Amino acid sequence: MLVAPPGAPDTVTEMPRGRLITVEGLDGSGKTTLAVGLAEALRSRGLEVELLREPGGVEAAERIRQVLADPALRIGARAEAMLYAAARAQLVEESLEPRLGAGIWVVLDRFVDSSLAYQGGGRGLGMEEVADINRFATRGLIPDRTIVLTVPPEVARTRTRARSPSLDRLEQEHDDFFLRVAEAYDRLVEADPKRIRALDAVEPPDRVVKAALEQLADLLPSGVACDLKTPVEQGSGGPGGQSWGGKIR
Ligand SMILES: Nc1ncnc2c1ncn2[C@@H]1O[C@H](COP(=O)(O)OP(=O)(O)OP(=O)(O)O)[C@@H](O)[C@H]1O
Ligand SMILES: [Mg+2]
Repeated sequence: MLVAPPGAPDTVTEMPRGRLITVEGLDGSGKTTLAVGLAEALRSRGLEVELLREPGGVEAAERIRQVLADPALRIGARAEAMLYAAARAQLVEESLEPRLGAGIWVVLDRFVDSSLAYQGGGRGLGMEEVADINRFATRGLIPDRTIVLTVPPEVARTRTRARSPSLDRLEQEHDDFFLRVAEAYDRLVEADPKRIRALDAVEPPDRVVKAALEQLADLLPSGVACDLKTPVEQGSGGPGGQSWGGKIR
């Protein structure tokens, strides 16, 4: 008789849990572009995939996103960290937990690691301190895999500016802030290489999608190929960033 390993889903009664794939990196590194391409690549392999972004994905979190982006508001580092965590808590409860429980894959544009890098590293609150409030916010939900796009900060800056001349509250930060964020991401990759994989985002978008898909090979159901023979077509409307509001949330 075949004995299922502990924790394996009962194929008759239980749906296999969906996978949570998060995309991380500096502003302008190409996260949204990759998230869209990756979701399409996974869908084309027969998986049910939801594409969401942070902060956002559900109504309350989208409202918090507007507050966080507003350059006219004064928001201290602790309040900022708590606002991100609050938006995340709502996303986890209202959207991620039910979807993952229903076997749906979620490609998520930013998650906890963004807070560790930006508020923990960039703002200097400390990565452990920020991890603590996020463990509370997420009830301990950890992504199955995280892709960190690495790109020199000046390239990320140039891409952000090319996309839109007006910068939001965080995009207006100075170079040393983004250097601290980039260093924090490096530390995260180093600390958890099984979950967090760094990819060179200076490569063209289709190459980045291909490389990301290869990093998911061990998570894909058996029989689903992770190779990408033809480049993935990007979603209509292009990776322009500002227009994703209606498409990715
Ligand atoms: N691999 C790439 N090579 C060249 N240009 C890219 C690549 N990926 C994205 N871009 C371009 O760079 C700009 C920023 O990309 P994108 O919006 O995906 O970045 P992002 O990380 O999501 O930014 P933000 O953090 O501001 O949301 C876009 O104009 C996009 O077309
Ligand atoms: Mg984006």
